Amino acid sequence: MKKKFYILSSLILLIGCNNIDSSTPIPNSKEVVRNTNSVNVAQQVVETTPTRTLSKVKYIDKPIVIEQGMLHIKGFMGTIQPTLKSALQQDGDHATAMSACSSVAMQMTNDYNNITNGVKIRRTALKYRNPANKPDEVDKEVMYRFQAVKNFKPVAVDMGSSYRVYKPLITKASCLYCHGSKSDINPKIAKMIQKKYPHDMATGFKLGELRGVVVAEFPK
Ligand code: HEC
Repeated sequence: MKKKFYILSSLILLIGCNNIDSSTPIPNSKEVVRNTNSVNVAQQVVETTPTRTLSKVKYIDKPIVIEQGMLHIKGFMGTIQPTLKSALQQDGDHATAMSACSSVAMQMTNDYNNITNGVKIRRTALKYRNPANKPDEVDKEVMYRFQAVKNFKPVAVDMGSSYRVYKPLITKASCLYCHGSKSDINPKIAKMIQKKYPHDMATGFKLGELRGVVVAEFPK
């Protein structure tokens, strides 16, 4: 078991920083056109509307897009969940399972992203454990909305040239071993988390709360 743990740990180090950069550049709101025909200069300041402002999320109500995103998410979740489940079953104090959740999940993310052309799958949260999973502005707004409306159905967002589908992840009893309050987490796990993720924010969750989201992003 020790050997397995070391293998998993080195995987973490290898793939720890595979965060996907999902930021979309926002064009300048003002564009000055050069005066070539000596016309009135005042008319030559062309106003262009930004394609997306970071504070506005363009939700779309297209069942087909949500379905497409959910197919990718289910494919991906199908690959990580059995891994986590069997690691939890094999390992009484969940120390190996913790490495499984971090490294194997991320490895699977890489594999999945390699085989599915143009589709990116990632996990993020408002209170995240791994800084590589930090949410961007759109992610944050979507999660605030999930918390506010308490409706945990997947949603789709128009990102300009791509779509994002967000599937909420709700805290289940099995998540509390590693994301619950102090009394839920075995001291050995707490120590490992503290060591590997010194700035961890992903504890203190309660049953039924929004833990985070899985995001599928794919070209239109
Ligand atoms: C055995 C310990 C363990 C269990 C059980 C566990 N997790 Fe995690 N979880 C982790 C670790 C470690 C990370 C950091 C992974 C990384 O490095 O990307 C993590 C990361 C996450 C993330 C990515 C965002 C972040 O915080 O970095 C989400 C979302 C998440 N877990 C949800 C869940 C849910 C939902 C459950 C229950 C179904 C669950 N986890 C069960 C240990 C665990």
